[in-house]
Amino acid sequence: MSDTLVVKIGGSTLGGGDTALEDVVALQRRGLRPVVVHGGGALISEWLKLHNVPTRFERGLRVTDERTLEVVVAVLAGLVNKRLVAALSVGGGRAVGLSGADGGLLKARRVDEPLGFVGEITEVDTRPLLDLLEDGFVPVLAPIAAEWRGEAPSGQLLNINADTAAGAVAAALAARWLVFLTDVPGIRDESGETMRVLTAARAGELREAGVIEGGMIPKVEACLRAADAGCRSVIADGRRAGALLEAIEEKTGTVVG
Ligand SMILES: Nc1ncnc2c1ncn2[C@@H]1O[C@H](COP(=O)(O)OP(=O)(O)O)[C@@H](O)[C@H]1O
Ligand SMILES: [Mg+2]
Repeated sequence: MSDTLVVKIGGSTLGGGDTALEDVVALQRRGLRPVVVHGGGALISEWLKLHNVPTRFERGLRVTDERTLEVVVAVLAGLVNKRLVAALSVGGGRAVGLSGADGGLLKARRVDEPLGFVGEITEVDTRPLLDLLEDGFVPVLAPIAAEWRGEAPSGQLLNINADTAAGAVAAALAARWLVFLTDVPGIRDESGETMRVLTAARAGELREAGVIEGGMIPKVEACLRAADAGCRSVIADGRRAGALLEAIEEKTGTVVG
């Protein structure tokens, strides 16, 4: 069985009492092969405000015009990505930051016209990740992709939802685990209780009922997709110390699939 682990880190959980990056380094020391995928929504919003670029969401996706894309790429593939690489190195981790546009990792097409430069992944080429893992590096992936039209790259960058990217990468790698570290203890049901396990059928019901909504939707979809590819998919509270280590042992969070 694969010893690969994909962990998606949301911007909201870093920098408090969390130990996500320490946990990543600890897992690498144990001989596992972690891949980090990160978001950065809050910092992007901050920078958009700084540059007086108005922003809005449709179906949970950030409508991305040309100026928005500039900020998204600069913040995600620049500031957030390099900060994570630097922070991982403090604990002794050897990390390499890259975006999905690097090494042909993520190919995408535009979702639709009104969303602008928002992409959906059409293909994952795992070679850049496998090469880095083979060499003992932790790949740190910013969810930016290169647009492909038919058989050719257009040269355009596209903004990809980080949760979706994590799910697609985990499935393509046939990773053993996909863990989402977020700012809630797991997925709540209609009574407000955090569930230990969520099946695909139940996920459909809870979504229909509006109990699973907003930022949780792409996570659940990504988990189900990765679970289909054989991953153990877990959504856990990244604000808690040791959350990642407990999540892969399924001692915390919600297992989806
Ligand atoms: N059923 C649910 N259970 C738990 N959280 C939910 C649920 N439905 C929606 N959410 C929301 O999803 C949020 C996590 O997604 P998001 O804000 O996008 O965080 P991240 O930065 O980790 O992607 C939670 O803070 C919560 O408000
Ligand atoms: Mg989110």
